[in-house]
Amino acid sequence: MTLSMNPSTYVRVTLKNCLREQEEEITAFCFDYGALGVSEALKFEQNDPANYQPLTIFTDVFSLEVFFQTHPGDIFYQEIYKKFQISDYEEHLEQEKDWLEEWKKGYEPFEIVQDIWIVPSWCTAPLNAKKIIWMEPGMAFGTGTHETTQLVAELLSSAPIETSDNMLDVGTGSGVLAILAAHLGINNIVGIDIDKESLRVAKDNVLKNSVQEFVDISIKDVSELSDQYTWVVANIIDGVLLKIKLDLLKVLKPGGYLVLSGILEERWPAFKKEFIETENLKIIECKQKGDWIGVLLNA
Ligand SMILES: C[S@@+](CC[C@H](N)C(=O)[O-])C[C@H]1O[C@@H](n2cnc3c(N)ncnc32)[C@H](O)[C@@H]1O
Repeated sequence: MTLSMNPSTYVRVTLKNCLREQEEEITAFCFDYGALGVSEALKFEQNDPANYQPLTIFTDVFSLEVFFQTHPGDIFYQEIYKKFQISDYEEHLEQEKDWLEEWKKGYEPFEIVQDIWIVPSWCTAPLNAKKIIWMEPGMAFGTGTHETTQLVAELLSSAPIETSDNMLDVGTGSGVLAILAAHLGINNIVGIDIDKESLRVAKDNVLKNSVQEFVDISIKDVSELSDQYTWVVANIIDGVLLKIKLDLLKVLKPGGYLVLSGILEERWPAFKKEFIETENLKIIECKQKGDWIGVLLNA
């Protein structure tokens, strides 16, 4: 079957039941016939939640997606069937899309906590939005739409914050929680992250929101910090929180508050024991959204 073309389309071919042992040869063959790229939908497993290195599961038989600008020609299929043990294929004509523009359409202004709205930087703020967090998340985590971010926002918004307090946002991502904290009245906030791109995005967002007087974004690792904070916020997956537990406690002022999120419900009992009970921390409030738990603790 030959599909019709125009410049804003491309062809995606799915080669089914390819043998793993022939993977390299099949790929080279596709490129010889003008493929622009190939991809395989890999499966992953992550046994150790404290380790951000999931293991790739390679199956003996797999499907390969091959991308061409136009139909590769019947000879491609005749030859690939002859040469390799591929059982079937599908050919789809795809429209080229600006994925970023598509994604932007689904990200709209919303009220994250009472009176504080997150407004994508390309949108107009709703008239009833009293306080606005302008957000351009780019490649960083932190649109404000994720349950784990919302748990922190809700815990902070009902917490006993005083203007003399300071705050450390560990894993600031887009800077969304650091900027939110500035709206909640904290005027000495430090946001850190291990990801350079997040830091660039967070700095941009701080400027966009004109809170640079209150929020400092820094590349430091939490283990390097010597200052102490009234509020330490960390929305990072539970395994990592356990890994950096002692560093988080070291930067917390005596009597200070720790806001943790990113704890999966199924791992909550173990987390509570290892992080909270072992360190004699007091649970002030604990909330759940979807599969995620967030907790406000007092040292
Ligand atoms: C789930 S995102 C949270 C982003 C944002 N704070 C929010 O709530 O939307 C977690 C962030 O933590 C960062 N991160 C992961 N491990 C970290 C570590 N050990 N120290 C500091 N940041 C870390 C990641 O790069 C990522 O930006």
